Amino acid sequence: KVKRDKMTILVLGLNNSGKSTIINHFKKSNEQSAIMVPTVGFLIEQFYTMGVSIKAIDMSGATRYRNLWEHQFKNCQGIIYVIDSSDRMRFVVVKDELDLVLQHPDLCNRIVPILFYGNKSDLDDSLSNVKIAAALGLENIKEKPWHICSSNAVSGEGLDEGVQWLVQQIR
Ligand code: GTP
Repeated sequence: KVKRDKMTILVLGLNNSGKSTIINHFKKSNEQSAIMVPTVGFLIEQFYTMGVSIKAIDMSGATRYRNLWEHQFKNCQGIIYVIDSSDRMRFVVVKDELDLVLQHPDLCNRIVPILFYGNKSDLDDSLSNVKIAAALGLENIKEKPWHICSSNAVSGEGLDEGVQWLVQQIR
């Protein structure tokens, strides 16, 4: 198995779930700046962790940009799917979006590992990983390795553990 030293990871999730805050945590140690691509609705960020250079594509949650995701699906080696674990009202939307990703022709036949962050775990009304997994039907994901991690993107808690899992799956 070839050891990768570079990988492209898509960071997906609804707006306000904490994607930018998570990516920012990993960028702290270096000076790489974000390249804003407002017209197509995503940000490309670089960071370096565990001996690998990660290009993270911070995708907007807006459905109108979904046709632009296709190109990104083809070229990614891993996915981080960020969930606001306190945003119970939108769990149905989170699930719908996830199902569309999983069913996409460029992903459905590939073994792409998916890391779920149950983010905002510090909030009182946040759901546990077990409940999030049940609400999203994660046990139905058979063809891809997945892992769910509680995180607090503001303090950084849980973030490293999650990315460690993802990097180990890919390299
Ligand atoms: P979009 O750019 O709109 O797609 O949002 P995003 O997913 O990038 O979310 P962003 O990182 O901008 O975070 C949204 C808000 O949630 C910000 O006010 C963050 O400070 C806050 N936030 C992010 N993670 C956490 C967390 O773990 N706990 C708490 N309490 N707040 C968080």
